[in-house]
Amino acid sequence: MKNMTPWWIRIPLIFFLIFGLMEYFIDSGEQPAFIAYPMAAAFMIFVLLLLIGIEVILASIENVLFQTLSDEAKERYMASSSQQWEWTWGKNMYKKLLGSKPMEEEGEIVLDHNYDGIRELDNELPPWWVYMFYATIVFGVVYLLRFHVFNDYDQDTEYLTEVTLAEAEIAEYKKNAKDLVDVNTVELLTEANDLAAGKTIFETSCVACHMADGGGGIGPNLTDENWILGGGIKNVFNTISEGGRAGKGMVAWKQSLKPLEMAQVASYVLNFQGTTPANPKIAEGDIWIDPHMPVEEAGAVDSVMIEVEVDTLQFKETIDEEGTVIE
Ligand code: HEC
Repeated sequence: MKNMTPWWIRIPLIFFLIFGLMEYFIDSGEQPAFIAYPMAAAFMIFVLLLLIGIEVILASIENVLFQTLSDEAKERYMASSSQQWEWTWGKNMYKKLLGSKPMEEEGEIVLDHNYDGIRELDNELPPWWVYMFYATIVFGVVYLLRFHVFNDYDQDTEYLTEVTLAEAEIAEYKKNAKDLVDVNTVELLTEANDLAAGKTIFETSCVACHMADGGGGIGPNLTDENWILGGGIKNVFNTISEGGRAGKGMVAWKQSLKPLEMAQVASYVLNFQGTTPANPKIAEGDIWIDPHMPVEEAGAVDSVMIEVEVDTLQFKETIDEEGTVIE
């Protein structure tokens, strides 16, 4: 019995083959099967033990059979099993690619000159090197034609395509991972289902101190423009997440609410702006002006006002500079 492969190749090979098949056939979602199902891991350990067991049994059978052989047969057996397992194709290929002359034939290629006993062999270039050199030439020609003659694309286009693709991926990712919001990325949510979810959270957790209409009680009025801790989605999110000033009663909600839930309730809170609650608490804090409000908007308001002025002047020339009608 002559084994072609040694045991340390056989066992891992069969083991990983079964492992691969198992992972392929067991649908375990994102996680690999042997993590998702402890049974699968136990099965693989069993397979490993089984394989080792089989090897041990085979080796001892071989040993027993060996003892029954005659001395001459033992010798023959030893000779055949000591033959190393070889990958002949690989070995021949390696020799061919190296292309060096065997030591015995070096006499044919030795050059005549002799420097203090040092002589030179006229070896051929090794085929692996030559083939690679030819490949670079082919590559160079194709490259030159493609990018410098037919101008396929340049680095800028390549960059832009990749950025667009990545941006699309990010957008897709964000859509599926709303829960990843934090104070830096949170945006005002406007979708009806987000606001409805925010309303539910507000009515369960916040009404006790802020009232259902946001008018305020223990907590401040949320319907006015005044904010103690800053308005706008980012500040409101931050207040909800981290809580108010120490000892005021507004706790950090990040322990009990998920990021998405905090974004939803923050957006819901901001929807109170401009509404009139039944019992409004007196305004606290400063009027919040969004520092990121686009400049154009402010400009637009000005120009509307000027237009109105001009119009009024044209149609009613009876208004003086202070705006009083002078008939
Ligand atoms: C135990 C009472 C209490 C509860 C419950 C409570 N808050 Fe508050 N909230 C307060 C107080 C008190 C303040 C003022 C904190 C301060 O002055 O630092 C406040 C401040 C705020 C502010 C900042 C207002 C401003 O003017 O800057 C927001 C926004 C807010 N709460 C939202 C919520 C939300 C959303 C919930 C529910 C998840 C909630 N609060 C639950 C008591 C409460």
